[in-house]
Amino acid sequence: MSSSSSSVPDYLGDEDLTQETRDLISSLPSEKGWLVSQMYQFQGRWHTQALLQGILKCQKHFEAQDSDIILVTNPKSGTTWLKALVFALINRHKLPVSSGKHPLLVTNPHLLVPFLEGVYYESPGFDFSALPSPRLMNTHISHLSLPESVKSSSCKIVYCCRNPKDMFVSLWHFGKKLAPEETADYPIEKAVEAFCEGKFIGGPFWDHVLEYWYTSRENPNKVLFVTYEDLKKQTGNEIKRIAEFLGCGFIGDEEVRDIVRLCSFESLSTLEVNREGKLPNGMETKAFFRKGEIGGWRDTLSESLAEQIDKTMEEKFQGSGLKFSC
Ligand code: A3P
Repeated sequence: MSSSSSSVPDYLGDEDLTQETRDLISSLPSEKGWLVSQMYQFQGRWHTQALLQGILKCQKHFEAQDSDIILVTNPKSGTTWLKALVFALINRHKLPVSSGKHPLLVTNPHLLVPFLEGVYYESPGFDFSALPSPRLMNTHISHLSLPESVKSSSCKIVYCCRNPKDMFVSLWHFGKKLAPEETADYPIEKAVEAFCEGKFIGGPFWDHVLEYWYTSRENPNKVLFVTYEDLKKQTGNEIKRIAEFLGCGFIGDEEVRDIVRLCSFESLSTLEVNREGKLPNGMETKAFFRKGEIGGWRDTLSESLAEQIDKTMEEKFQGSGLKFSC
């Protein structure tokens, strides 16, 4: 799919590829994908050409610092929310939420927290070293494909995982909104099948989750594993857990309540900047806010499709100690 459709971000497109990327993709397994015309398998994961180029550049050029904080998610797993929460948390002294003048009130979270591989593709000249310390960034890159310095430095990773059915359904609607024409004739049955085969953007889902899950257990000081569902059910407790992990110092109950309120779905999704704004790549900010619910998959997936995903996940996550509850 070319990026000519108005609201489709460049990083889902296939323009502006370097010769190095073109050479590499010519040797990679490829598949026709949903939402993107072609996906390529690199280091075991399926990527769009543009994001693949972003990942390659990130692997080559990104130098992690010990104080960095990197938020990692599968797409549609709560990235926007996590960005807002952690941005508000780490800047709470400099930018008190209670001041009523917080940047999140006038700026979409994606503009406050750069998306590593997206920036490396769309703005190769971006100067990461100019970000204020601690640098806060996000990525969808699998643990296996992270730049070496992210693994070898003492930087911290917060990984947020979401129930696969809700994540799939969120992505399904996101794709339909972004590219209605390109996705119109693609049946959901086929998309579920591809998801369960792991042949989905960034997939296999289970490999992404399990790599970070096991790393969080082996090295709990490096990776904190949180879930969208826990964030929803006990946002305040999860903020405290994240604060402790990041070594943010004491955080009072009132500060926590302010952050929870500011970053809630109801609050962020109704701000003008998130209803009518656009990112520099043309994407409408409202595309990141749909329902914000647990179990919302029920109005999109039939029983048999839900069962198909459940069965696959049961098999893939067996013995890992990780269970999805809804
Ligand atoms: P739904 O499509 O299920 O509503 P991402 O940010 O990774 O792209 O994920 C988007 C999903 O997170 C969407 O899920 C969106 O509605 C939800 N979301 C966005 N902001 C949220 C918030 N503040 N609280 C809870 N969910 C949020």
